[in-house]
Amino acid sequence: MRRSQIIGFGSYLPKKIVTNDDLAKKLNTSDDWIRQRTGIEQRHIAADDELTSDIATNAARTALKDAGLEADAVDLIILATATPDNTFPATATRVQSNLGVRRGAAFDVQAVCAGYVYALAMADNMIRLSQAETAVVIGAEVFSRILDWDDRGTCVLFGDGAGACVLRGAEVGGTNADTGILSTHIHSDGDYYDMLYVDGGPSTTGASGYLRMEGKEVFRHAVQRMSEVVTAALDHNDLSVDQLDWLIPHQANKRIMDSIAKKLTLPDDKIVVTVDRQANTSAATIPLALAEARTDGRLQPGQLVALTALGGGFAWGSALLRL
Ligand code: UT7
Repeated sequence: MRRSQIIGFGSYLPKKIVTNDDLAKKLNTSDDWIRQRTGIEQRHIAADDELTSDIATNAARTALKDAGLEADAVDLIILATATPDNTFPATATRVQSNLGVRRGAAFDVQAVCAGYVYALAMADNMIRLSQAETAVVIGAEVFSRILDWDDRGTCVLFGDGAGACVLRGAEVGGTNADTGILSTHIHSDGDYYDMLYVDGGPSTTGASGYLRMEGKEVFRHAVQRMSEVVTAALDHNDLSVDQLDWLIPHQANKRIMDSIAKKLTLPDDKIVVTVDRQANTSAATIPLALAEARTDGRLQPGQLVALTALGGGFAWGSALLRL
């Protein structure tokens, strides 16, 4: 059986750090409120001349290095982003050029915070069908450019960053039959479009607009949908929650993660948390958390890891992998 194996992890965070106290100097907010309601302590913010393609390229390069591959091995680049450099072409094509890749396909996926799970699902399907052999799957966002910095209900929640994984097709069987990406599940429900959106765009205002959100509704759906879709992934593979080594949920709010852990009856120490230091980097949260947990040794070969996310649309999903 042909499966996608994750063979490299990479990340990039802009140098500039903005703390809650920094925000409290300009806004009617406080470190205390932000920490208690979200678990966020600080976020990274891109420099003025740093584009999504730049930070995506940096993450892709570190993932390729980790995989021990040169760029010429790559025949697929999928970039999950809601903050592309330009309306078109796909920012992934700029990353392709930056990396010096001259073959295969490069395109963007737009599922906001669920973008990384969508992008992994697409890359995995293409690899399984032998349409691609070696894919770089990136999540990269410069959300600081689409925030209304006068809206304390949203601007304190987000940050900028990029993460990437290298996927490679492999024939598995016998003792390694259940390694690699075991399954992906993706969903959307457009009836919730207005719960989390950007109030601009080429076919509406012509300007790129700012993020708007019904926080409480998003919170409720995030807990419900992410718990459901992790359970669906485990059921699909005849696995149970106690067999999970790690859950890496989209990092929007520590309270959302705590509620998911409770719903799934998963111990807190099996959840990888980065939201405290990075805030919500949308499509980048999952690959950033994967790279961090890989680098510090938490992720080990053979472990079972579930990824899950929900974002604007609503769009949500999960991926189950054996490292
Ligand atoms: O990636 C997916 C996208 N995002 C999410 O998943 C986020 C989901 N939602 C959330 O994380 C939470 O709903 C928030 C963190 C956004 C808000 O937490 P909450 O517990 O739902 O608070 P709230 O919106 O009900 O606001 C409570 C109070 C309000 O004041 P009043 O009306 O009670 O006087 C807000 O005006 O807190 C006020 N408030 C703030 N106060 C200080 C809202 N934002 C702030 C702030 N600092 N930054």
